[in-house]
Amino acid sequence: MALWSGRFEQGVSEFTQEFGASLEDDKSMYAQDIAGSIAHAKMLARQGVIPQEDAEKIEAGLLKIKGQIDAGTFEWDVNDEDIHMAVEGALIRDIGAPGARLHTGRSRNDQVATDIRLLAKDMLRELAKENCKLRKTLLLAAEKNFDVVMPGYTHMQHAQPVLFSHHLLAYFWMFTRDLKRIAFAFEDADANPLGSAALAGTTYPLDRFYTTELLGFDHPIPNSMDAVSDRDYLLDLLFACSVSMMHLSRLCEEIITWSTTEFGFVTLSDEYSTGSSIMPQKKNPDFAELTRGKSGRVVGNLVALLVTMKGLPLAYNKDLQECKQGAIDSAKTLRDCMTCMEGMIDTWTVHTDRMLDEAKAGFTAATDVADYLAKKGMPFRRAHEVVGELVLYCEKHGKGLEDLTLAEFQTASDLFGEDVAQDLDPAGIARARNTYGGTGHDAVRVQLGEAKARLQSD
Ligand code: ARG
Repeated sequence: MALWSGRFEQGVSEFTQEFGASLEDDKSMYAQDIAGSIAHAKMLARQGVIPQEDAEKIEAGLLKIKGQIDAGTFEWDVNDEDIHMAVEGALIRDIGAPGARLHTGRSRNDQVATDIRLLAKDMLRELAKENCKLRKTLLLAAEKNFDVVMPGYTHMQHAQPVLFSHHLLAYFWMFTRDLKRIAFAFEDADANPLGSAALAGTTYPLDRFYTTELLGFDHPIPNSMDAVSDRDYLLDLLFACSVSMMHLSRLCEEIITWSTTEFGFVTLSDEYSTGSSIMPQKKNPDFAELTRGKSGRVVGNLVALLVTMKGLPLAYNKDLQECKQGAIDSAKTLRDCMTCMEGMIDTWTVHTDRMLDEAKAGFTAATDVADYLAKKGMPFRRAHEVVGELVLYCEKHGKGLEDLTLAEFQTASDLFGEDVAQDLDPAGIARARNTYGGTGHDAVRVQLGEAKARLQSD
C-alpha cells in the first residue's frame, strides 16, 4: 500500500502505478534524498518536534539504507513510486515508529525540490571540473602547436593565414564562457526549499536556516510556493549544457572537416576512430560525429523543460516530475562529450605541412598586398581594387600571387618593389597581426598568458 493510501478504497492499476512512477530517474538522487532527510530529522529534534533519540535512529536507519543502495543490495519496488517513498518506506519497515515521524512538517513537494537542487549542484560541480580539464587540453594543444600556420576561413573560403594555436584558443574562450554559465546555474540552484512543505509552509516550528546550513545551501528560499514549483535552475543548467554542447559540436564539425582527404589537417588516433563493416579502408571520426549529434538531444532537453513549465499554475503539479530526466541526461552527455574531446585532441596527429600548403593557397596574402600599397601611400580602397585585379589576372593565368614577377606586380602599380615578397609569406603574414587579440605571434603569446591565468583562477 502507498504511504498516502488512507483516503483511498482502491489502489491504482498496475499500469498507472508504473506510468506514474519516477523511481528509475530518481535513483540518480538517492544520496541527496537521504542527506535531505537526515538534515530534516536533525532539525526536527533540535526544534523539539521529535525526540532526539528518534532522530538518531532515523539517521542510523537512513545511513544503513544508503549503504544498501551503494552496495546494490537495496530492493527496489516500483510500487514505491519514487525515491522518497522507497527510502521512507524501507526506513519505517526497518525501525518502525521513529521512522514514521520523519515526514512531520514535510511534503514530497519540498523534498523533491531539495533533492533536485542538491543533485543539480553536484552535477554542476562535476561539469565545472571537466570544463577546466577540457580547457587545459586546448591550452596544451595551443602551446604545442604554437607556430603552426593554417588558412583562416570566412564563408568556408580561404581568408587569411592564422596560427593554429589562435584557432584552438578561440575554443578555449568559448568554454571559458560556458564555465560562467555553469557557475550561474549553480548559484541559482544553491537555495533551500526544505521546510516549505506542500506549498504553504507548516505550523511546526521548523528552522529552515538550520537545514540550509546542514545541507550547504546559500540561503532558504523566501517563498514556499515558489520554492516547491520553481525549476528555473534546471533551465539554467540545461541552457549551460546546450551552449557548451553547441561549442563542442562546432569544434567537432571542424575536426570532421580537418580529417577529410580533401583537408588532411589532422588524423585522429585509432582510439578515437572507427572502421566500416564493408569498406576496409575506412577510418571514420565517429565520436566527433556522435558528439555533434548528441548536441541535438541536449538542446531538445532544454526546449522540453521550457515547454513543460510554460503552462503550470502554482504550486506543485505532477508535470514537474518530468523535469529530472532531461537535466540528468544533459549533464551526463556534456560531461562524456567533454571527456571524449579531451582524448581526441590529446591523441590526434596534426599535419603542419598540409596546413601550411593550404595557408598559401587561395590568395590568402591579398589583404597584406593591399596593405603594402596602402602603407606606401595608396588609399586603401584603391589598393583593394588594384590587388583584386591582380588576383583576377592570377586566376586567368593559373598563378598564385607568390608566382608573379616584380614586372607583373609593377604593371598593376609602380609602388610595388622587391620588398613585396615578405608580404606574400603566410608565416610572415600570420606573425605580423599583433593587435591585441590578433593571430600574430606576440599577440598569441599574450593571449596564452591570459588563458593560463584564467584557467588557474577558475
Ligand atoms: N515523484 C514526484 C516528483 O518527482 C515527487 C513529488 C510528488 N508529489 C506529489 N504531490 N505527487 O516530482
